Amino acid sequence: MKLSLLSIAWFVALGSFAQQRKEITLSDNWHFSHDRQTWESVTVPHDWAIAGPFDKKWDLQKVAIEQNGEKDATEKSGRSGALPWIGEGYYKRMIQIPTECKHAELVFDGAMSEPTVFLNGQKAGYWAYGYNVFRVDITPFMKAGENLLEVHLKNVEESSRWYPGAGIYRPVKLITTGDDWIDPWKTFIRTTELNGDKAVVEVTVGTGSMPDDFLAFEVELRDANGQLVGHKHNSEVNNLGKANMVFTIDTPKLWTPETPYLYTAHIRYMRKGTLLDEVTQKFGIRTVKCSKEGGFQLNGVTRKIKGVCLHHDLGPLGAAINKSALIRQIKTMKDMGCDAIRTSHNMPSQMQMDLCDSLGMMVMAESFDMWIYPKCKNGYARFFEDWWQKDIENLVLANRNHPSIVMWSIGNEIPEQKSELGRELSEKLQNLCHSLDPSRPVTQGMDRAEEALKSGFAQVMDVPGFNYRVHKYQNNIEQLPQGFLLGSETDSTVSSRGVYKFPVEVTDNSQYASWAPTYDPTAIKKADGQCSSYDVEYCSWSNLPDDDWVWQDDKPWVIGEFVWTGYDYLGEPTPYDEYWPSRSSYFGICDLAGLPKDRYYLYRSRWNKEKHTIHLLPHWNWGLSKKDKGNRIGKVTPVYCYTDYPTAELFLNGKSQGKITKNPQERLDRYRLRWNNVKYEPGELKVVVFDAEGRQAGEQTLRTAGQPSALKLDVWTAQMGSVPVCALNASGDDLAFITVSLIDADGNIISDAADQLTFEVMGAGTFEAVCNGDATSLESFKSPTMKLFNGQLVVIVRSGRQPGILTLKVTDTHLAISESIAIQVD
Ligand code: GAL
Repeated sequence: MKLSLLSIAWFVALGSFAQQRKEITLSDNWHFSHDRQTWESVTVPHDWAIAGPFDKKWDLQKVAIEQNGEKDATEKSGRSGALPWIGEGYYKRMIQIPTECKHAELVFDGAMSEPTVFLNGQKAGYWAYGYNVFRVDITPFMKAGENLLEVHLKNVEESSRWYPGAGIYRPVKLITTGDDWIDPWKTFIRTTELNGDKAVVEVTVGTGSMPDDFLAFEVELRDANGQLVGHKHNSEVNNLGKANMVFTIDTPKLWTPETPYLYTAHIRYMRKGTLLDEVTQKFGIRTVKCSKEGGFQLNGVTRKIKGVCLHHDLGPLGAAINKSALIRQIKTMKDMGCDAIRTSHNMPSQMQMDLCDSLGMMVMAESFDMWIYPKCKNGYARFFEDWWQKDIENLVLANRNHPSIVMWSIGNEIPEQKSELGRELSEKLQNLCHSLDPSRPVTQGMDRAEEALKSGFAQVMDVPGFNYRVHKYQNNIEQLPQGFLLGSETDSTVSSRGVYKFPVEVTDNSQYASWAPTYDPTAIKKADGQCSSYDVEYCSWSNLPDDDWVWQDDKPWVIGEFVWTGYDYLGEPTPYDEYWPSRSSYFGICDLAGLPKDRYYLYRSRWNKEKHTIHLLPHWNWGLSKKDKGNRIGKVTPVYCYTDYPTAELFLNGKSQGKITKNPQERLDRYRLRWNNVKYEPGELKVVVFDAEGRQAGEQTLRTAGQPSALKLDVWTAQMGSVPVCALNASGDDLAFITVSLIDADGNIISDAADQLTFEVMGAGTFEAVCNGDATSLESFKSPTMKLFNGQLVVIVRSGRQPGILTLKVTDTHLAISESIAIQVD
């Protein structure tokens, strides 16, 4: 504290201030057009395609999906979301450059895609890849006062295997400085040593402008309470404008997903006592290591990664990034016990990385889904050779200070993995990552283990990552000098929330599937576009969660997994790639609305070591609604319980259905409790669980629902978690997520309800979107009406900029009932 007061005094006494750095996020006052004739006012982040309408014509393709083992081309619909993302888009707005500004740049966190940036009619910059952060120096094109900023975007057909989104879908920042400025991408803060109760932290800082002999940097490191923990001056600035400082920090508070402790570095750049520029940078103190002896280690402690793969879209919000939506995603995953996200298969947003830092979530930051060999006709392969270096550079330089990122990934299922060229490229990409960041290991996900091992592709990686095919793990490890491997992508189990198929059959080729080589053309007619939530269906290349856990549990050399996927995403509706109207995935642990499927509790029962899980499935409403026509009464309706407890007894209307214990010898009984012969009768289904000592530890009861009688609204906001009383910031971009359930008089969900609901938002905010998680729904996310899917949906409302009360009214016209909720906006 003493030092910091002194240093402030020193500045005030000796220094004068040059033009101050200003950072403005350009959210408002944008105009968007497809043709430059008609313009609409929009705010950025913006996704021009998410409002739809859904139509198979937008992305109809006749292709063979090689990754899925297909040989013949067939018609595919909904592969990239069946939304109108293909085409061109133009954005424009005025920006204000202060008179004293000498240098200005724009930082785009991603624009889909091929963004060309113009200032005052002159081309100022271009980036090929839609997923990467890039900077545009607009100094040569700017004038003091008003300047016209224009951005042109182009999305070509067959350029993506999933919904990429469309538009300026991540934030854009305008940064103005004086002549002498710090380049934040030259700042690199890393922990080089953890030794007892000391940490060695190395800080590199750098200028964007030309260095001279009179330069000095001052760096202060402060803990989360603002207490000074390190302070140094450095005038040894090299000719690249860089300076290095090494700090020893006593009793450091280490960053982990459980304790996401952040420090702040205050970096000041001075010439002869004049403060020229100043930036702050958050960082965490932590080390990462992967080795044969210790597996994956964070701060020297071995842990198995409990990760999920996530695409970048936010379901009904599309690709338009939003902080509240990301917080909801991360917190929901954390409650499941998940500790890592793989940003499949592209660069993450800065906003997501900031949140992973502060909320505590490790990250595998990925880059590419293809290199030279195209996985889809017009994908990134068009750019790879010219752009890979620039893309890796931006990924690493923009993100290397995030403690959450524990490894870089240079690719996913790269077809070149079988070749010499592939091995060479792996080395080149990995070396580039190392040169920019020696502190993190590099990985990639391989799907052709034998070929990748034969070519040496797998052996050259810091972390050999294998996608699926656990049965090959043993053979793989025997050929790997690294002595460990990662399940870089696992499971691909498919399910639809609230859908249960009978009889329950474990299958990698369900009768409704259309993609399989053995596809039965008559089956498609029976298809309803849904998968069973008993969590027993997967794909020909994949498996069930239980299959992975055997390897995770039994083999110390398996360092963890990234499940495909934490959330459903737009596009890739496997196993319904040929069935219309399927247009989003079935892989999610949560559905597209963010509602947990049963599988959520299966993972939670294994991953969350802090809280207990007791979850029964299926619902117990068979036979009451007209749809079921009573046809399950007396029929075998298996009951599963997902719980961390080893033993449980099930009761149906008070009659015991047996007390069972998990059985490590059986595929589906090691991690689940199953009563396979329960005959359905309406009433009360109750499970009582017992701990390892045989003590009764908890219970859960499901009751058959009566007549629908009310709508129940449960609100989630980032501020208040899931507490019913909640509030939003009057920031214009805070979101509340309201889960709407149709219930009976006792609060039981009417689990097959598909009533059409309408939504009205009044007061201090607006309707944003709605989603019911049904992968076959063609109702627009952006219209204030939607059907319930299996009794539930999620409405999203957006705060305005004025304080007040936001009221959401939800109406079920058919039942003539409505329910309202008021949210404080301040
Ligand atoms: C993997 C691929 C993912 C996704 C997944 C579906 O092979 O890496 O992007 O397509 O299959 O199971």
